[in-house]
Parts: sequence; structure tokens; C-alpha cells
Amino acid sequence: MRFDILTLFPEMFAGVFDASIVARAREMGRVELALHNIRDYAPGKHRLTDDTPYGGGGGMIMKPEPIFLAVEAILGVEVPPEGYQTLLARGYPPIVLLTPQGRLLKQALARELLAFERLILICGRYEGVDERVRQYLVTSEISIGDYVLSGGEIAAMTVVDVLTRLIPGVLGDPAATGKDSHSAGLLEHPHYTRPPEFRGHSVPEILLSGHHAKLEAWRRQESLARTLARRPDLLAGAELTDADRAFLAGLEERTEEP
Ligand code: 6GU
Repeated sequence: MRFDILTLFPEMFAGVFDASIVARAREMGRVELALHNIRDYAPGKHRLTDDTPYGGGGGMIMKPEPIFLAVEAILGVEVPPEGYQTLLARGYPPIVLLTPQGRLLKQALARELLAFERLILICGRYEGVDERVRQYLVTSEISIGDYVLSGGEIAAMTVVDVLTRLIPGVLGDPAATGKDSHSAGLLEHPHYTRPPEFRGHSVPEILLSGHHAKLEAWRRQESLARTLARRPDLLAGAELTDADRAFLAGLEERTEEP
């Protein structure tokens, strides 16, 4: 999968993309990353990328021209007057704007995006981007959560990281991403490793017992209990068996006691 990232701060990405899973995925050739400085595409001696908003109100707004020119240079195509949508329909890659107004990034959205072999990511600054970028260039908008970042860069890094670990062959264990928190709509069960006793605190007996079926049942129940306690909102969208529901009903009954 290839990501083209348009940003005013390409230097922010070094480190995140040069370590751990993303770095390994790049070395393996499963992920290709290209950083593009929007300023390089800004016309004029001053290479102006933002300007004050019409109507006042303060803050700076990203100008449309440098962003359109950057995309056109990267893809080697001119955006037609009616907008990029017709190019998308002809197989050109989606153009994603990172903005707090976008669709919330969830594991399910990440899996949807995995279908594309190339994505263009535009990092907006938090004050905003000229609306014509949204209307005639961007094909979708993504937010990573209900808080405000100074710019879309950290969100773009998040999108790349979340997608990279889902690309087949990137993680050692192909089953690993299926067990992740959120992948089945539940939070993950607790994990332990050696030593069996640490500063007087023991690992739960069941993990050392070798009873595979009992162990899996315990993990499932821990996962359910943890989700109920921390993120009860997730239970509505989770795949639950009758046994899961009975277990949760038992837990809820207990918490309702005086
Ligand atoms: Cl994508 N951008 C900014 N600036 N803030 C955010 C965000 C994105 N997602 C959550 N907050």
C-alpha cells in the first residue's frame, strides 16, 4: 500500500515512520510512504500556503491553490472543473482530509481503507482549509477522535500505523490482529508473562493450568467484564453468544445490588 502525505511539516513524520512495525513494513516493501511539502507547490516568491479568512474571525486558512497543485503534480493529472470525483471514478486514489470534522476512525473504517492500494492524505491545520478543497478535491474526511490536534499530521501518522499493521504479512502472527481490542468489538483480556510471581503478585492460576478450553473461557469473560466496566457503549456492536449475554447479565445484576 502506498501513502502520499501532503503536509506543511514533513519533518514531523521522521521517527514514527522510521521505527518498529511501519519501518519493517517499508523494508519489506508492503508499505511505501511519500511525504510532500505543500509549501513546495505554493506559487510566488513567498510561497504562501495560508491566508486570513474572508469575513474575519481570526486564525489562518490553508489556501486551495498549493494543495490542488501538489495533488496534480503527484498524480500527473489535472483536476477537472467539476472536481476530483470523476478521477476517483476512473481509478485515481481516494484523497483523504484529516480533520476533526471527519468520520471517526474505527477499526472497521481502517479495514475499509485497506481495499485501496494507494491513498492521498492531506494534513489540515486546525483552523481550517478553504472549503473548495473539501468540495472539489477531497473524497473523504477522517477524524481520529473528539479532541482538537494542532494539525492533521498526528492523525495521518495514526491512519498509516493502523492500516499498516492490518496489511497481510506485516505482523508475524496473522491471527494477532483478529484478537486486538476493538477488532471483535470488545476490549482485550489481560496479558501476563514470566515470572509467575512478581513482587508477591501472582499470575492467575488458570493461565498456568494448561486447560485450553477453560483458559479461552476465562479470557472471553475477562474481555466481556472489562468492556462492560470501561466501554459499555461497545457491547451494542459486539458479536455476542448466548453464553456471553448470560455472563454479562450476571455481572450487571451484581453491580445493581445495593
Ligand atoms: Cl484529523 N485533525 C485535527 N486537527 N484534530 C483532530 C483530528 C484531526 N482528529 C481528531 N482531532
